Amino acid sequence: MCGIVGAVSKRDIAQFLLAGLRRLEYRGYDSAGLATVDSKGKLNRLRRVGKVEVLMEAAKKYPIQGHIGIAHTRWATHGKLTEINAHPHISENIVVAHNGIIENYKFLYERLYRKGYRCMSETDTEIIAHLVHWEQKQRGGTLAEIILRIIPQLYGTYGIIIMDVHNSNVLTATCSGSPLVIGCGMDANFLASDPIALLPVAHRFVFIEEGDIIEVTHCTIKIWNKFGQSVNRPEVEYFIKDDYDIESKGPYQHYMQKEIFEQPKVIKDTLKNRIINGAIIFPEFGQSINKLLSKVKHIQIIACGTSYHSGMVSKYWFEELVRIPCDVEIASEFRYRKFVVRKDSLLIVLSQSGETADTLAALRITKNMGYLSSLAICNVDYSSLVRESDFCLLIKAGIEIGVASTKAFTNQLTVLLMLVIYIGQIKGMNSKIQSSVIHAITLLPDYIEQVFSIEKGIANLSKNFIDKQHALFLGRGSLYPIAMEGALKLKEISYIHAEAYAAGELKHGPLALINMNIPVIVIVTKNNLLDKMKSNIEEILARGGNVYIFSEYNSGFIESDNIKIIPLFENIETIITPIVYTIPMQLLAYHIALVKKTDIDKPRNLAKSVTVE
Ligand code: AGP
Repeated sequence: MCGIVGAVSKRDIAQFLLAGLRRLEYRGYDSAGLATVDSKGKLNRLRRVGKVEVLMEAAKKYPIQGHIGIAHTRWATHGKLTEINAHPHISENIVVAHNGIIENYKFLYERLYRKGYRCMSETDTEIIAHLVHWEQKQRGGTLAEIILRIIPQLYGTYGIIIMDVHNSNVLTATCSGSPLVIGCGMDANFLASDPIALLPVAHRFVFIEEGDIIEVTHCTIKIWNKFGQSVNRPEVEYFIKDDYDIESKGPYQHYMQKEIFEQPKVIKDTLKNRIINGAIIFPEFGQSINKLLSKVKHIQIIACGTSYHSGMVSKYWFEELVRIPCDVEIASEFRYRKFVVRKDSLLIVLSQSGETADTLAALRITKNMGYLSSLAICNVDYSSLVRESDFCLLIKAGIEIGVASTKAFTNQLTVLLMLVIYIGQIKGMNSKIQSSVIHAITLLPDYIEQVFSIEKGIANLSKNFIDKQHALFLGRGSLYPIAMEGALKLKEISYIHAEAYAAGELKHGPLALINMNIPVIVIVTKNNLLDKMKSNIEEILARGGNVYIFSEYNSGFIESDNIKIIPLFENIETIITPIVYTIPMQLLAYHIALVKKTDIDKPRNLAKSVTVE
């Protein structure tokens, strides 16, 4: 979602700010802007609706300079998608860029209105600029002091950078529920909502804690905690692997396509050094966690979207393989209900980005609620979720740019299955089952490579979906969450309305939908539920439905006018079928979106990292 970059330097920083915004593009946004103060003390601001590229073009036409500045990519929450609503916002000498939502902005505006302030935009952010300006006029002080005074008035989440045109050597910032990081450079300091924005200029970072107030000049950094006490925050050296070149998709047309095809490699990365002598090892876990895991009698998983689906698959694994009851819940529901903490329960928070607002909030409210411990499974090692959990397991998917999550999902599943076995090892799991699951895990990269060979067949099928408005996905057992994931991928990038059902639920309602215009995608493997699925398929065919069956070669299905079979190879180990069957779902969504010519990597209305509620 929104992204912020700020810089204060001895040199001109306008180009750096624009480049920083480009690096944040993957998070999703719909307008962009920057403001700088130049050597003559003049404030320059440029904002555009659309891509950063459009802003860059504008900056060529109307060159903008300055040694201090802030820039922002906006994902509209309050107010339409217009240039006036794009950040930074200004109140005379005060310039503000903001990530998050100020929930009580209307109330604040009413008060400011009575004092003579008028908003140009419809945003909640402009209120912050006016509030700071009012405070400065009334009581004076540094911006840091002013922030400390106004923070109690702001309800919501925020990462804010503020610049004062009358004191243009200092950037001041604060955050709560929306991350900010300082990048320490040479004769320059930087601020950003995501260190990725700062990769070319900084390797030393200071992560800002909740409620901190910071003040940076080109050569100094000062930090106060939310009580106004001066604090030191550790400086960490991060050589974040710049393993993607934002400009380059290699031979691929889209990042999503690239990321689908990277899966065998990144699963290998995730497995590396974690399977030794036929056992799962997590070198990042110290000894203390083994004692803790031996006590676990219940697992509570919290996540959103695709990560929620991987949690759902793991419920089948935890309960089947190690007989530990597991509940999985959507973070936005969990955080607002009066949940009961089960005895000896381990909390697992699952997130690709580690910055998802609801998941992070859920983690925060569970502190001191009685969970044995919290474990984050995440793709971003410097994320808030990782920093705030007791333990973490990293998936090694590499940066994921496509809004539709692909490689992160299969990597999450791989790590979750390994975690199940790891806990099984501690709790004395049957060694034969243990070895066979570990063996199956090691086969994953090869299996996935093999699935790629059916891409052409899937691409051919995708043409059948071009005029479709709806689709139904069916699965049973651990393939039911894969049906959900398939439906999510399809709606996200092709804009076709897609629903997923556990096939046994058909008769309880969805059968009423069946007609020849609603393709039914069935994911079925040769397990104890095969015959049940065959009956479900018959029920659909009897009502004139069109079925697309993804199954192994020898599952006993025969093609006909209204049955299309997309065969995968034979005799795949049942336990890993959810991971392997995900690939054709991703390819199907991708190819349908391709024929529908949608914006695959940045689907409309969506953001990669959902940092607001
Ligand atoms: C996945 O395709 C989606 N873009 C979305 O559902 C995503 O999985 C969700 O927002 C959670 O993100 P996280 O894994 O970064 O927490």
